[in-house]
Amino acid sequence: MHKIILDTDPGVDDAMAIAYALAHPDIELLGLTTVFGNINIDYATRNAQYVLDVCGASAVAVARGASMPAVQLPLPYADFVHGTDGLGNVYPGSQPGMAATRDVALRPEARHARVEPVDAAEFIIRSAREHPGEITLVAVGPLTNVAEAYRREPALPSLLAGLVIMGGSVEEPGNVSPVAEANFLNDPHAADALLAVDWPATIVGLDVTHRIMIADSDLQRLADQAGATGSLIWRSSRFYVDFYTRKGAAQGAAEPQCAMHDAAAVACVLMPEAFKVVRGAARVVSEGIAIGQLAVDRRGYAYAVPHWQDRPASAVCMAVDSDRVREHFLDTIINYHRT
Ligand code: RIB
Ligand code: CA
Repeated sequence: MHKIILDTDPGVDDAMAIAYALAHPDIELLGLTTVFGNINIDYATRNAQYVLDVCGASAVAVARGASMPAVQLPLPYADFVHGTDGLGNVYPGSQPGMAATRDVALRPEARHARVEPVDAAEFIIRSAREHPGEITLVAVGPLTNVAEAYRREPALPSLLAGLVIMGGSVEEPGNVSPVAEANFLNDPHAADALLAVDWPATIVGLDVTHRIMIADSDLQRLADQAGATGSLIWRSSRFYVDFYTRKGAAQGAAEPQCAMHDAAAVACVLMPEAFKVVRGAARVVSEGIAIGQLAVDRRGYAYAVPHWQDRPASAVCMAVDSDRVREHFLDTIINYHRT
């Protein structure tokens, strides 16, 4: 059994990861901690509540987190990828290009009890103290909340079972700048600071998430066979798939498709053997033209050079059994929600 906390900026692919974690019998989802990134923190938090409601998991805790990075100024939200509301414009009244406002009323069917009275960092710390050594923290947004939790509680690594991070890329180009992936670029200081700590951390970056594409026919299977959850994933993915198509991701593909970045991080918890990792000290560039870039020392030896000595090895995913992960994601959600 895996107890997990999902730190998330929902986010169309975040919603897929949430549904996947809820559906798998070996995962106990202790809560969602929300963070800015794909969308502002208000929408990220309401979207987390809404996805839980639709998935029939209204009792799962939601703790609101950071609205911006701790050091740099926030980047523009990725509403051109995830829609004005962060979920592919599934909310009534959400129009492409409409300024994401704070006054989105939760849809009538939203019944989520409440947002926790403590913030995301405190929720992570209190949960880890309550279940020492049992919780895997799965971070699929900017790492601001995780860095804040570590700042408040430096013993956090010893209180967690592990840290799985969706972010970065080593050989794959970036998806925001030529070298930077969105989560790391949104808070490079947090990412670099956390990778100086021996969690142990596993990094699930674009080197593997860009290999696990999910096609419209796969998403249609969810819509047809996974009830309201499948319908939400289908509806919210329309805008997102269109972005990937316009970006040329479907070139050579049989049909429109999109990346399921965040669900890959959940898959890494459930079936780590489906991923091939390299191990080495990891840095994230926090200024200049390569800001947000992940750099990993894959040489297998280290000199005492500035900026690199005394850093723990992170496990960085470089290859994946894509078909196995994709099918596991689809089967898990369909089997759980079979209508
Ligand atoms: O680069 C992909 C990551 O950035 C995913 O977590 C996506 O949801 C966005 O947050
Ligand atoms: Ca995300």
